[in-house]
Amino acid sequence: MPRSPILVTGGAGFIGSNFVLQWLAEEASPLVNLDKLTYAGNLQNLEPVSADPRYHFVHGDIADRDLLRDQLQQHQPRAIVHFAAESHVDRSIHGPDDFIHTNVNGTFHLLEEARAYWSALPQEQKSAFRFLHVSTDEVFGSLGPGDPAFSETTAYAPNSPYSASKAAADHLVRAYHHTYGLPTLTTNCSNNYGPFQFPEKLIPLVILNARAGKPIPVYGDGQNVRDWLYVADHCDALRAVLMQGTPGESYNIGGDNQKANLDLVRTICALLDELRPGDPVIPHSKLITFVKDRPGHDRRYAMDARKIESELGWRPRETFDSGIRKTVEWYLAHEDWVRDVTSGSYRQWIATQYSL
Ligand code: NAD
Ligand code: TYD
Repeated sequence: MPRSPILVTGGAGFIGSNFVLQWLAEEASPLVNLDKLTYAGNLQNLEPVSADPRYHFVHGDIADRDLLRDQLQQHQPRAIVHFAAESHVDRSIHGPDDFIHTNVNGTFHLLEEARAYWSALPQEQKSAFRFLHVSTDEVFGSLGPGDPAFSETTAYAPNSPYSASKAAADHLVRAYHHTYGLPTLTTNCSNNYGPFQFPEKLIPLVILNARAGKPIPVYGDGQNVRDWLYVADHCDALRAVLMQGTPGESYNIGGDNQKANLDLVRTICALLDELRPGDPVIPHSKLITFVKDRPGHDRRYAMDARKIESELGWRPRETFDSGIRKTVEWYLAHEDWVRDVTSGSYRQWIATQYSL
């Protein structure tokens, strides 16, 4: 008998589409992808699986309760993997409303419909059901240079409207387990990079600007530190948590790859010097331009991922050197994808955000 599907929200975004492609390549069971297709959602990413009978796309908002109820009834999923979110810190500073709509209220509506659906399941399916909430390290706030990495017991201290909205969602998920017994799992992951990342985020933005001979904007002194993880490793970790995680628990996921932004940008420039020596400005690092800092910019994130490693046996497969090279090569080989996502509203965003 074919296994019942999982329901993914936000599967047309950066991490979601990597997850959907990996799932259909590695797992036998079907997958339903519910996505609103905001500026960050792109069905082109999922073209390779669009004709796969195990894949089903639903266009909709996670805050639409009637739609959620219908889809849960129709597909009878055995799990929900919740990616859908507004995800860009700078956008949350310019306009937090959408972050509250999707990350807070949307998660609440999804939890309510999941609870109603789960409560009515027969006992066996009820105990097997999982609600996996995909969250971020940013909920823990900012570390000083000598502070230990964030662990699962670090107190929440979100500093941006984005991280505050994700923290609110994490708290709701926790409460739905504690109060109603919904079998939830929460993951908090560090910065991802890899194919399909929208070029408002640092790594693809650097690649695109460097290639075009445009200024590469580095906020503040460039010494903010992020812990970078290749996206396929994150997707592997999510599958491990979904299958083996203990309901009610949270798991930190990280790459053990702390890099100052300026070092990261210089690494990308050096790779481009090697791979595209004919670009308009060589060396590409000549384009590095220090710009006004992000308000409230968190200084450092670092994840202690020992729990997922010791309990679930997950470790990243990619090193930073192999992952960043793959990523740069992917963007170089997918100029059509870049062209398609950088039209219209993207140009408007760049003009608003960067008056270099
Ligand atoms: P993304 O912005 O690339 O994609 C978000 C997706 O959600 C898009 O496809 C969008 O259309 C969809 N969406 C937005 N609002 C929706 C709504 N109301 N209803 C249905 N769909 C909606 O984000 P991402 O970088 O892929 O991040 C996915 C998840 O992982 C987010 O929850 C984010 O907080 C978390 N996360 C991201 C990172 C990272 O480095 N990108 C790190 C840790 C955790
Ligand atoms: P980003 O990719 O937006 O992820 P996050 O803010 O969620 O960590 O940014 C990564 C780091 O790069 C962060 O410290 C902000 C910095 N940054 C720049 O210096 N310039 C840029 O143009 C962008 C988008 C980010």
